[in-house]
Amino acid sequence: MREEIVRRIEEEEIQKRIRELAKTINDDYAGKKLHVICVLKGAVYFACDLTKYLTMPVTIDFLGLSSYGDGMTSQGVITLNQDLTQNIAGKDVLLVEDIIDSGRTLFYLENMLNKREPASLDVCTLLDKTVRREADVVLKYVGFEIEDYFAVGYGLDYAQKYRNLPFIGELQFKED
Ligand code: IMP
Ligand code: MG
Repeated sequence: MREEIVRRIEEEEIQKRIRELAKTINDDYAGKKLHVICVLKGAVYFACDLTKYLTMPVTIDFLGLSSYGDGMTSQGVITLNQDLTQNIAGKDVLLVEDIIDSGRTLFYLENMLNKREPASLDVCTLLDKTVRREADVVLKYVGFEIEDYFAVGYGLDYAQKYRNLPFIGELQFKED
C-alpha cells in the first residue's frame, strides 16, 4: 500500500484562521494573564503560531500524551509521557490541542487538570472531528470542523510522519 496525501486545508487558510482565533482569545482574556498548555506533539505547530498573536502576558507549558499507537484508531488507553513543569493552581489555562476526535483524550486531560484547581480551563483545538465524538467535552475555540478523514500535517502525524507539512492533508492508502 502506498500512502498518498490529498491537500485539504492550505497553509494560508490555517494562518488566517489562527489570526482570527487569536483575536477572539485576546478579547476574551483582556486584562488577564494566560497560561497556555500545549499538548505534545501534535499541537506544537499550532501553539507556536497561535501564541505569537496573543497580546496578554502569556506563559507556556507542555504536556506529553499519547492515545494512539502507530495506527489510525484510538487504543483507548491514554498515557501521560511528560507532565507539566509549572503549577496551574489559580491560573487561567488554555489547553491547546491539534484535533479532537472521540474526545476521550481531552476528557481524561480535563479531569486530570481540574484536580489541580486552575482558575479556569478552556480548550482551543485546531481541528474538530465532531461526527466521531463520544465523550462529553466542550470546545471553546475551534479552528476548523472537519469531516471524518485521517488528517496529517501541521503537527499531526501518521506513525510519526508528516508532522512537518505546512498544510493539512488527508491520508489515503492506494494499491500499488
Ligand atoms: P481522541 O481521544 O479520540 O479525541 O483522539 C485525540 C488524539 O488522537 C489527537 O490528539 C491526535 O493525537 C489523535 N488523532 C485523532 N484523529 C486524528 C487524525 O485524523 N490525524 C492524526 N491524529 C489524530
Ligand atoms: Mg493530540
